[in-house]
Amino acid sequence: MSGSLACFRGWHPALARAELAALLPQAMLTPTSCPRWVWVDTNNSDDNQQALDVASGLQAFLLDGKLHRWTGDEEPLLAAVSHYLHSHPVDGTVKVLAWRQEQRIPGVSTSVLSGEIGGIMAQRGWSVELESPDHVLALIADGPTSTLAFGWMQGQGPVPFEHRARQATQRPFFKPVSLDPKLARLVVNMAGGPRGSGPIVDPMTGTGGFVIEASLSGRPCLGLDINSEMVAGASANMAWAHDGDVPESSIVRRGDATNMEQALPTAWHGTVAGFVLDPPYGRNSHGTMGSMSLISKTLSSARRLCKPNGQFVLILPVEPMGERLDETVALDEHVRLVNGEWEGLLQTMVEQGWNPRTAWVERVHRSLSRLILLAECAPQD
Ligand SMILES: C[S@@+](CC[C@H](N)C(=O)[O-])C[C@H]1O[C@@H](n2cnc3c(N)ncnc32)[C@H](O)[C@@H]1O
Repeated sequence: MSGSLACFRGWHPALARAELAALLPQAMLTPTSCPRWVWVDTNNSDDNQQALDVASGLQAFLLDGKLHRWTGDEEPLLAAVSHYLHSHPVDGTVKVLAWRQEQRIPGVSTSVLSGEIGGIMAQRGWSVELESPDHVLALIADGPTSTLAFGWMQGQGPVPFEHRARQATQRPFFKPVSLDPKLARLVVNMAGGPRGSGPIVDPMTGTGGFVIEASLSGRPCLGLDINSEMVAGASANMAWAHDGDVPESSIVRRGDATNMEQALPTAWHGTVAGFVLDPPYGRNSHGTMGSMSLISKTLSSARRLCKPNGQFVLILPVEPMGERLDETVALDEHVRLVNGEWEGLLQTMVEQGWNPRTAWVERVHRSLSRLILLAECAPQD
């Protein structure tokens, strides 16, 4: 059976892998020598396209993609590409799109190789069309592993998720707490799985970072905040993101995270696919409840509303943990939360009916990291 090679953007490959695993739950993902590429054992182009349409960390799929370790000689590479083209014929016009990841592979010129592969394609009788070809052969050179990947590409390739118009600072209502859209989108996908799995709920939406991403990717969603100024601001941001035409199923309203039943549409009770929570640092905006107690009560409310196997993704500030772009954080590692105790948090989650599964860390700045913790709803009684 043919599969595909999923290719990630460089921002955080370990998170990108987790996002893809959530978006393609039926697929088996197998690591390769390069953290930014994984084998996917299926090649359903509709599923792949759905993942490409919404993912933050995914760059492209290469159909039955091949890896080639650079030996210092281009002949074996060109022979492998030629063999691939022979065994994967396509109809229509073609072009080669080459790019590199991180540093150069010494001795490799992707533009020279593209020209040579274009020549092989022309020899095979294909017409090369640079503007809008029917098929694009991707050639990616990964500097750190001196490996090249190639294959017919599905997706856009090396285009950043975020362009200027998508930056949180461009929205009408911006606060320093506003999440980076690429992280917000990734967390929404991790919590929600494939589109159509159910609503996404952000119990403490602030400026609306999560719900905007959920809504723009076609998911029903609810963002709550206890602070009316935040509700008005998040609503303005949501309207701005949709040019004033907000889908009915994208809801932002005032509500208390610890009692979401009151604010959640009745039809959504028991159907929520994922909760995404970025709680306030320290005490909440009312200053009435300690941060762990607020999280605990929010987990409890979420548990009453999620669907079986619903997911909960929690983002928390932690003491610096360095770059961990290719790996997860072991749950038994001692993580130093900025607010509260790690072991106590894990215990609270379990007590409230959520099984902590996996954690990742992202560097924010020299003196702060951010933990992303995924938990799954424990089997319901
Ligand atoms: C860190 S901010 C969220 C930032 C958000 N992720 C964004 O992109 O803007 C936390 C938010 O939680 C809200 N909050 C605090 N306690 C709450 C509660 N009990 N229920 C709902 N919202 C609450 C605060 O008003 C604040 O806007």
